Amino acid sequence: MAAAAPSIEKAVRGVTSAPVLDFLKRPKNLLIGGKWVPAKSGKTFETINPANEEVLALVAEGDKADVDEAVKVARKAYEEGKWPNIGPHQRARYLFKIAELIEAHADELAILETLNNGMAISLARGMVAGAAEVFRYYAGWTTKIYGETNPSDPSMFNYTLREPVGVCGQIIPWNGPIAMFAWKIAPALACGNVSILKPAEQTPLTALRLGELVLEAGVPDGVVNIITGFGETAGAAIASHPDIDKVAFTGSTEVGKLILQASAGNLKRVSLELGGKSPNVIFADADLESAVSTSMFGFCMLSGQVCCAGTRVFVQQDFQDTFVDALTRYTSKFKASDPLDPKTTVGPLVSREQFERVKSYLELGKKEGATPVLGGEVTSGKGYFVDPAIFTGVKNNMRIAQEEIFGPVAAIIPFKDENDAVLQGNDTTYGLAAAVWTKDVSRAHKVARALKAGTVWVNCYNNIDPISPFGGYKQSGIGRELGKYAIDLYTQIKSVYVKL
Ligand code: NAI
Ligand code: MG
Repeated sequence: MAAAAPSIEKAVRGVTSAPVLDFLKRPKNLLIGGKWVPAKSGKTFETINPANEEVLALVAEGDKADVDEAVKVARKAYEEGKWPNIGPHQRARYLFKIAELIEAHADELAILETLNNGMAISLARGMVAGAAEVFRYYAGWTTKIYGETNPSDPSMFNYTLREPVGVCGQIIPWNGPIAMFAWKIAPALACGNVSILKPAEQTPLTALRLGELVLEAGVPDGVVNIITGFGETAGAAIASHPDIDKVAFTGSTEVGKLILQASAGNLKRVSLELGGKSPNVIFADADLESAVSTSMFGFCMLSGQVCCAGTRVFVQQDFQDTFVDALTRYTSKFKASDPLDPKTTVGPLVSREQFERVKSYLELGKKEGATPVLGGEVTSGKGYFVDPAIFTGVKNNMRIAQEEIFGPVAAIIPFKDENDAVLQGNDTTYGLAAAVWTKDVSRAHKVARALKAGTVWVNCYNNIDPISPFGGYKQSGIGRELGKYAIDLYTQIKSVYVKL
């Protein structure tokens, strides 16, 4: 399919960064075995700027045939190449080098992320810095992955080895593409695996640029392969591939279930980081000012397109008027606006699909009888801008309180006491994150224990540090990324018995 070359100048809206423009002009091919190659089918797809709906680039549309080729190459790199025999100190050097290169290109990566995803540039800069930290953190792990000697019978010596899993398929979403690249690639490489990574079709650009940096860092050919393309084709081919040993997926719960089913063919290891509908519980003794500003950040960061977004805001009954009034006033200052403007907090949504989805939930909220006390204004011009919205009078069983909207939409739900907050907060199929706001230390700890979620924030929200695990209870996923927990995801254990 020979589509016309896009007008980059129109799409980038005044961006003059030479590295960004140079990158956009280069062909966007697949990374297989250290080489950039077009899709075997010759097909490409358009990737757009959600702030103005202009085409930024044409990107190779990889599918099953390309995945097959990448798996062959990755398998060879894993079994026969240099990578498996590189010592841990040397692997650390590669990861440190990638971190350095990310920082050296921070500006360029942040602008590309904002152009392709629509996230506010200030957030994109934070994500880039965070990605470099993740590579450094796992560089440290390469030399600290231990086996154990076990208390065996004296006639035996038994020890365990922690070995890589092998060829990993890594499927990432469009919300936070740079962060997701780091969360997947850094621990996989630290443990000695090789990867075939598929970025989301909405936001392939930064993964491709990061692929170039991985090569520049000297990582051997075939260790990191990148297949751009669609979920139903390239993604599904990864999930069901008989020679992929592990799949790590971040995205919707719906697709997470498909991945799990597809993995059954060869029983590949699966880790899933899925959706959420996280309770943010505000007690009447909370510090009003920080609870308000942080709760706004909790449901509006990345325009609410965050798996752990605090979209169910539970407020203690007698505090409700004060809190909602302050939250509404504060949030009304943040209109969805130009994501390249450093002052912007809320950018456009990522795609037409998300835009339509969020608009439909704004309508649904009204139909269900909730009261829209703020926003949800939608621009009529180009770009997928939706202003932050707040619904009051929400019941926890309404669809706007149970389904992941993935937009800047908060549902305010009243609660009576601690017990009621926990019961309602846990009344969801998800369990990714939760937060509790109170000055009572003992209540904070009690509620943190009682909430069924993989992460609980006390008097804060959306804090993420590579030292700490991230992942979900219930239908929010399987396994934990980050921290030492990702080492479990990317290694397997061998027990060796030696007869003495
Ligand atoms: P999605 O789950 O379809 O896409 C995420 C990734 O999975 C993309 O790379 C996509 O290409 C891939 N994929 C899609 N179908 C696949 C399949 N059959 N086999 C293998 N890979 C596949 O998410 P989508 O459609 O972009 O968004 C829909 C909703 O999902 C959002 O509105 C949001 O509620 C949720 N979502 C949650 C995310 C999270 O971080 N937990 C991230 C993205 C979406
Ligand atoms: Mg989908």
